Amino acid sequence: MKERLATRALLVVSCLVLVTRGIDARSNMQRENSSQIITNRQLNTTITMEGGDVFGCIDVNLQPSFDHPLLKDHKIQMKPSSLPIGHNIPSPVLHVVSQARLPIVECPIGMVPILRNDGRDQRATHITEQVINMDDQLEEAGIKYRDDFYGVRATINVYGPKVKKDSKDLSQSGIQIDNGPRGHVESIAACYSVAPSFVGDSFVRFHVAWRGILNKTCYDHTCPGFVEVSHNVGLGGRILLVSVYNGPQFAINILIFKDPKTKNWWVTYGEENTPIGYWPSSLFSYIKDKGNFSYWGGHVSGPTASSDSPQIGSGHFASEGNGKAAFMRNIQIVDGNNKLVTPNRYKDVVGTSDTSKYSVDGYEVNNHGIHMYYGGPGNFV
Ligand SMILES: *[C@@H]1O[C@H](CO)[C@@H](O)[C@H](O)[C@H]1NC(C)=O
Ligand SMILES: *[C@@H]1O[C@H](CO)[C@@H](O)[C@H](O)[C@H]1NC(C)=O
Ligand SMILES: *[C@@H]1O[C@H](CO)[C@@H](O)[C@H](O)[C@H]1NC(C)=O
Ligand SMILES: *[C@@H]1O[C@H](CO)[C@@H](O)[C@H](O)[C@H]1NC(C)=O
Repeated sequence: MKERLATRALLVVSCLVLVTRGIDARSNMQRENSSQIITNRQLNTTITMEGGDVFGCIDVNLQPSFDHPLLKDHKIQMKPSSLPIGHNIPSPVLHVVSQARLPIVECPIGMVPILRNDGRDQRATHITEQVINMDDQLEEAGIKYRDDFYGVRATINVYGPKVKKDSKDLSQSGIQIDNGPRGHVESIAACYSVAPSFVGDSFVRFHVAWRGILNKTCYDHTCPGFVEVSHNVGLGGRILLVSVYNGPQFAINILIFKDPKTKNWWVTYGEENTPIGYWPSSLFSYIKDKGNFSYWGGHVSGPTASSDSPQIGSGHFASEGNGKAAFMRNIQIVDGNNKLVTPNRYKDVVGTSDTSKYSVDGYEVNNHGIHMYYGGPGNFV
């Protein structure tokens, strides 16, 4: 099915929108709190990254997530009980693409990295206060999927879309999973994002995001909820290797799936499906059992996202194809038998909210999943 996506069609709450709308007054408070918590627990190590990000390493059992009221009696799960069937079947290599490096922070084993860009956070908070309650504009290019499923996997080509520095808009691409009725939609997501006015620079950053029972949107460790088990993936940090138009291409493999034993939602990355962490099932009510809506692709959002749109993906139309347009490929879902399968092509809607600015092309379905090119220049010329 290939149609024009209606912009405000339904539950569209992408990682990006979570990121924007998630930074509300309450989460600013939580952020202060979580810094306090970290200080009180006396960080063992502080690591400064190339580009200036500062991460603290904190004991995996003392991470801020365990302060979440719904995680009072939570027992940490250090690795998934199992991975979905078919996780180790290699995907065919169509074109040479290297793995993009997630922000790697070498915390000692038994610790997890927490981003603590205090100065930057204050700046972001300040900007955020002006953004609250604004009726943000939204544009998108990708695939919406409506069916019951227990996970999603995709290979996501990483680019640095241009976003005007002074615009308060942002551009993001990734995977989102939802369930729940209107007004109570629960979501989990993983994405890369460029958000200059929120983070103070135009680097491409990696995030996880969610909204659960508390109806509060959150990302990374800025409010408690996501339990990290990786001692070296720095959520919110820079992705260092980003694709170049008509040059080297980089991609990340992301797999989000529900642990059939513990019901926690895991997120893993890379060719080895290395665990980053999980969203405990107790954070959720509707999405506890399964997802029933998913979004794969890119979004832009913000006060001028429609009137003066940022780029999505490479900033080039999907029709330019390999090496020039951003792709998402090997998109698979986890079915009721805990098996990675090609999504049902009759349950997806493929397209863009504004065909003059963005497009989707190269849509193809095979045994290894769905492939597409997507993105475009927005209003950039
Ligand atoms: C920290 O969180 C507690 C509740 O856990 C709240 O009462 C307090 O006001 C918060 N402090 C700050 C500085 O946000
Ligand atoms: C910090 O962690 C290292 C390695 O785990 C340990 O050897 C050292 O004693 C710790 N330092 C403090 C102050 O806890
Ligand atoms: C998903 O399920 C909820 C009930 O849990 C329902 O209200 C909602 O409409 C469903 N969403 C879609 C996209 O089917
Ligand atoms: C959840 O928050 C959204 C806005 O962020 C609001 O529209 C909705 O009514 C809220 N739902 C509940 C149950 O509070």
